Amino acid sequence: MPDSLTSKYSYIRQHSLNLAAPLSAEDQCVQSMPDASPAKWHLAHTSWFFENVVLAPHLPNYQVFDEAFAYLFNSYYEALGPRHPRPQRGLLTRPALSQVWAYRHHVDQAMQRLLSHPDRLSPQTLALIELGMNHEQQHQELLLTDALHLLSCNPQLPAYDASFVHPSAHLGEVQWLTFEEGVHTFGRSADQAGFSFDNETPSHQRVVQGFQMANRLVNCGEYLAFIQDGGYDNADLWLSEGRAQVLQHGWSCPLYWLAPNDPRAPADHWQVFGLNGLQALDLNAPVANLSFYEALAFAQWSHARLPTEFEWELASGHAAMQDMHSKVWQWTRSAYEPYPGFVPASGAVREYNGKFMVGQQVLRGSSFATPALHSRHTYRNFFPASARWQFSGLRLAKDLKHSF
Ligand SMILES: [Fe+2]
Repeated sequence: MPDSLTSKYSYIRQHSLNLAAPLSAEDQCVQSMPDASPAKWHLAHTSWFFENVVLAPHLPNYQVFDEAFAYLFNSYYEALGPRHPRPQRGLLTRPALSQVWAYRHHVDQAMQRLLSHPDRLSPQTLALIELGMNHEQQHQELLLTDALHLLSCNPQLPAYDASFVHPSAHLGEVQWLTFEEGVHTFGRSADQAGFSFDNETPSHQRVVQGFQMANRLVNCGEYLAFIQDGGYDNADLWLSEGRAQVLQHGWSCPLYWLAPNDPRAPADHWQVFGLNGLQALDLNAPVANLSFYEALAFAQWSHARLPTEFEWELASGHAAMQDMHSKVWQWTRSAYEPYPGFVPASGAVREYNGKFMVGQQVLRGSSFATPALHSRHTYRNFFPASARWQFSGLRLAKDLKHSF
């Protein structure tokens, strides 16, 4: 990652275009489900964020590229006006992709003017620029997960990039690392150096009961054993809501797995569809594209449980922990709640995180699709319990049993 703010901005903006490059213009326009967005929309919306949050309020005489884009590419910011309905983003055949590229260029030129005199920028403006860059990195991961979902809907199961390399994971017997009961500090203080989202603040103390945590991620071989043991049919393992999802949607394996003799691509073995197309299932790869419900049922079957987000954060500092980052996000048993004393960021970006703090589970770590330097041990990702299209897996935890 480049050092100066200007080159860091340019690097991040170019990376979005690099990620979209393997996709055709047709690929980039389609929305495969309401939760996912077209790549073209991601490219436009991240520019809309810089235009509306940074440039319009902070660059004198900034000329808006196109007044209509404020409506088309606002995601959920009530303070910034009405917006196009999320489930209909795929209907935006206009503006053309070439116009979105022109929009990005226009915003980038204005941002370079703003960034050319960093000494004149207030701490508040610098913080918004930093937020805009981190926002774009979040959308870079979504661009990939949304593209994979889209391509999975094509009967030909085309690869995003045939040379894309999916990660392997730490192998070997699981080691259970023990953490004794204690009071620990979690989260980030607002004055700590380096970027963090407001949902990571403030730092605060909590009592954590003794627990054990697996040193490595759950892999596909272990998850296959759960399937072959009838895990999806065993109601005892599932939350009521999870069981209902299994029955309603016919879930019998992770989102992109194909069982032997799947009519989409018959084979005598399990296969998985990834960014590199259809591949034989790698039993050593970390299991991914699970809902929270599936992760929890697997943990039940394993006579273990999911860690809380605080156990995860505490364990992340242990030298023996493997693959905490850069492989798959890890579901936790923690509901996405504000930390004690949480105060949302001010201005329009107060809507960034705080208003979503209900009905979602926290995921910790980061995935192979998370951009470089966009992960940290206090990072809190969050999705509804039924979400399966993210690169979401798990590691196991257990209560610490004392013998008295
Ligand atoms: Fe966004």
